[in-house]
Formats: sequence, C-alpha cells, structure tokens
Amino acid sequence: MIEINNLSKSYGKNEVLSGISAHIKKGEIFAIVGHSGAGKSTLLRCINGLEDYQDGSLKVFDKEISQLNEQGLRELRKDIGMIFQHFALMSRKTVFDNIAMPLRVWGYDEKAIKIRVDELLELIGLKDKSRNYPSQLSGGQKQRVAIARALALSPKILLSDEATSALDPNTTKQILSLLKEINERLGITIVLVTHEMEVVKNIANRAILLEQGLITNSGSIVELFLNPNKNMKNFLGEEEILPNTGVNIKIFFPPNVAMHSIITNMARELDIDFNIVWGKLEKLGGSVLGSLVINVEPKYELKVEEFIKNSGALYEIIKESK
Ligand SMILES: Nc1ncnc2c1ncn2[C@@H]1O[C@H](COP(=O)(O)OP(=O)(O)O)[C@@H](O)[C@H]1O
Ligand SMILES: [Mg+2]
Repeated sequence: MIEINNLSKSYGKNEVLSGISAHIKKGEIFAIVGHSGAGKSTLLRCINGLEDYQDGSLKVFDKEISQLNEQGLRELRKDIGMIFQHFALMSRKTVFDNIAMPLRVWGYDEKAIKIRVDELLELIGLKDKSRNYPSQLSGGQKQRVAIARALALSPKILLSDEATSALDPNTTKQILSLLKEINERLGITIVLVTHEMEVVKNIANRAILLEQGLITNSGSIVELFLNPNKNMKNFLGEEEILPNTGVNIKIFFPPNVAMHSIITNMARELDIDFNIVWGKLEKLGGSVLGSLVINVEPKYELKVEEFIKNSGALYEIIKESK
C-alpha cells in the first residue's frame, strides 16, 4: 500500500532521510519510532506529499508521489487522513463544524454532511459534544474530534504524528484503543509516529527505528522487543547486567509457549542448577511474551540448548558480558 524504496530527503545540504526503505501493508498498524529530530515527521509528510524528496521512490496506492500534479495530490490527500500532537482544531468552530470541514471543502451537501458527522460523532463517542467548542473539551476529547475529522472523507490510510504525546497515560490508552478499533472495524491502514514505546507495544504490528534519518532496526513488534539489536536496546534504555562466569542463555517465549512449564521442566528433567539472571514480561499487541536470561555452567550448555530447542522457545547464547 505504501512502498518506500531508498528514499532520501534533504533540506538544503542537510540530509534528514537517508536510504529509507519500508513496505507498509494494507490493514496494518506500522510504527515509526525514534528520538526527536530523527526525521519521523518528515517521513510522514513525504507520504502524503507535503514534502518532496530528492532520491529514491515513494509509492502510495502504486503512484509515485513526486510525479503527482496538484489534482493528483488533492485526490491522494483525500485518501490519507492525518492527526497531530496538538490536535490542530479550529478554535472558533464547533465540534460539528470541525469534523464537517473536509466534507465542506469537497462540496458535500448539508444533508450528507449531517449524516456523516453524526456517524463519526457516534464512532468517537462524543454525540453530546456536537455544539461545544474545542476549548470546552479535554485533551482526549479534542484528539477524538481530530480523529473524526481525519476520517470524514473515509480515507484508506491514517497518519498519526505523536497523537498521544500530549495526553496522560490513561487518555493515551483510550485513544490507542480507538485507533485500534478504527483499524480493525474500518480496515484503515495506520502509520504512527511516536517516541513512546508503550504506544508501539500496545497497537503496532511492525515498526522501524529511525535515527538521524537512517533505519537502524526494523521488524515485527515481537522481534523488536524480544530480540532488539544494539540500537533498539539503546533507544529502549535497557541495560542487561550479566554475570561474566558461566554461559548466559537468553530464552524468548513466543505467545504460544508457556514460560513457567519450560523452566520448571528443565530444572526437573535435566537435574541441573541454573541461575535466573534477568527476565521480563511484555504485553505486545494483546499477547504476553517473555524473555529470560539464565546462567548455566559451561558443561551443561549443550544439554540446555537441546532442551530449549525441543520446547519450541527461541534462544540466543550471549557470549560477552556487557
Ligand atoms: N522545514 C524544515 N527546514 C529545514 N530543516 C527541517 C525542516 N523540518 C525539519 N527539519 C530538520 O529535519 C530533521 C528531522 O526533523 P523531523 O522530521 O521534524 O524529526 P522528528 O519528527 O523525528 O522529531 C531535524 O534535524 C529538523 O531540524
Ligand atoms: Mg516530529
């Protein structure tokens, strides 16, 4: 649905995106994560043609964005809704008129507008706020209105630029579950930019880590959280302190593998001692996944490896201590 190949973008001499490739599939929730200044918003704005690019290719619905004329861009943006950190609502307009705005721009008649806006108010759960002004709403409610406005023209893609960054954790959860619902019920592909990993863990299917315009890690959420590379570990701020004697084995437990039974069976069946060094459970997109580092004496390494292999869990021998 969105095919990005070797995309580069500069502001003057400053290259802010370098050789970006990502293929975003229809119906998925795809996250772009990274620190401030990494180029996340710029990448998002390239997708809806608000920014041009110097090199590479960016196709949305099989059309090369850089080759679209004004009319083509207008049509493209009709299919791509966008929401922002600070909502970008019009303060002098009511909730109803904010949501109706794109429909008015496209010349819908007032009767059709009323039907569509009521539908959207129902979806976001704010039917009773229709005549209120943005200043009378909470942050979460404002973001709901912005979401309704972004969906007014029934886009196929929703771009979200830090949409929950100005919200408290509880409101963030509610907005994320609304986005998830929109993705599942309406089949809308969502590309979300965020610097918060909680957001990604909660709803994304796949993600890329962007650092100074480069993709430094990418994969499914499960891969990224259970087996992050050095860059991702750094970004997550994780430090694993491991013993420097014995062998450290990191075990990953996919959703269908029960962690406790493997561990207790291993101790029982192999009749060996091992230390649990470090472990965590993550709730990723609704399933609970675990990773655990154990430390065993070198003479047991092969036996343990064999046992883990047969159990269906994945593992990695961590050679050097960090
Ligand atoms: N309009 C612009 N003109 C010049 N430089 C820009 C412009 N917009 C963004 N940049 C620069 O591009 C880089 C990436 O910015 P941005 O995409 O906003 O990052 P992020 O969204 O990840 O915080 C930054 O170094 C920023 O200063
Ligand atoms: Mg940004």
